[in-house]
Amino acid sequence: MSLSFRWQTLLDELRTEGRYRDLAPAAGIDLCSNDYLGYSRQPHLESDVLSHSGAASRLLRGHDSLWEEVETELARWHSAEAALVMTSGYVANEGLLATVIDKNDWVASDRANHASIIDGLRLSKATRYIYLHNDLNCLERGLRAAHERRSAGQELFIVTESLFGMEGDTAPLREIVALAERYHAHVIVDEAHATGCFGAAGSGLVDHLGLRSRILATVHTGGKALAVPGAYVVCSRLLKEYLVNRCRHLIYTTALPPQVAAWWLETLARVQADNVARERLHANAQEFRAALSRVGVAPRGENYIVPIVLGDDARAVAAANRLQALGYDIRAIRPPTVPPGSARLRISIHADHAPEMLQAVAAAVADVSS
Ligand SMILES: Cc1ncc(COP(=O)(O)O)c(C=O)c1O
Repeated sequence: MSLSFRWQTLLDELRTEGRYRDLAPAAGIDLCSNDYLGYSRQPHLESDVLSHSGAASRLLRGHDSLWEEVETELARWHSAEAALVMTSGYVANEGLLATVIDKNDWVASDRANHASIIDGLRLSKATRYIYLHNDLNCLERGLRAAHERRSAGQELFIVTESLFGMEGDTAPLREIVALAERYHAHVIVDEAHATGCFGAAGSGLVDHLGLRSRILATVHTGGKALAVPGAYVVCSRLLKEYLVNRCRHLIYTTALPPQVAAWWLETLARVQADNVARERLHANAQEFRAALSRVGVAPRGENYIVPIVLGDDARAVAAANRLQALGYDIRAIRPPTVPPGSARLRISIHADHAPEMLQAVAAAVADVSS
């Protein structure tokens, strides 16, 4: 059997299952990207930074001093000891988890966690316990059993997203931290979808809830509300030092170019002051959810990520196609991104969406999903 035959067979299977994916260009009003604050549509200031790449790992010449400024500013924003920039959220999650969690350790992971968390945990080779989404009883059962059987030197971890990217709900972080303390476990939180959008200065849910000092590390991406390439980990000085020495995803990859660091500095100044965008974002989300409820549609979650579960893959794709034909860029999300039988429309509300447009989207969604 040739390699191309193997690939073709798999692609045909995906088509038959209604799970085939293609790279569709952006068209219509953006209701699917994670540009929650609308920053991607606004130009960056002129920067006099040379437009060359670091052309080396951050451990070599890729470590422009601007990145140090960015990390100092990030640590200040989060009132934390340290921050470490990496090339993407995927890389940061995979690298952090694979480096910090050893193969003899035990880790609980929410079933709805992102692929980059799943892959990082696989790389760590630790014993994995997948608990039902946001189910504290299920989490505690696993923790208690792991705590009772704990071997010498074994560490326990809990990994969760703060705002779930495909569910639109938030993790019960206070309760998770309390459980972790009861069973002497460490908590790592992926703040990808919350960064920029929660808290007085927008630094995310962990800070908003005052949990920073009780959490081992948080992961943030620039690729969503901040609309800049790259990502970062917030942690202690010691953990940063350990990552710089051990994290293969930092050591063995080319640094982002320095002009990206200049974008970060500009964006960080802006996002901390931009309460107007944050307020609009949350107000738009609430209005959109109210409009959906008036037309009889019950989405999941409670925030600006609005998943409407339709169940069947083909049904979700057909509904998304009809919305796109109306000029709304809304995409269907299918397994394996979400569990089988829970294919959905995922609508992403932004700060700069016009309220009248959102009312029209709600009516269109009711129409295509009935
Ligand atoms: C929860 C979550 N974590 C991590 C990532 C990865 O971030 P990035 O797009 O920067 O690789 C994403 C987005 O794709 C995500 O949704």
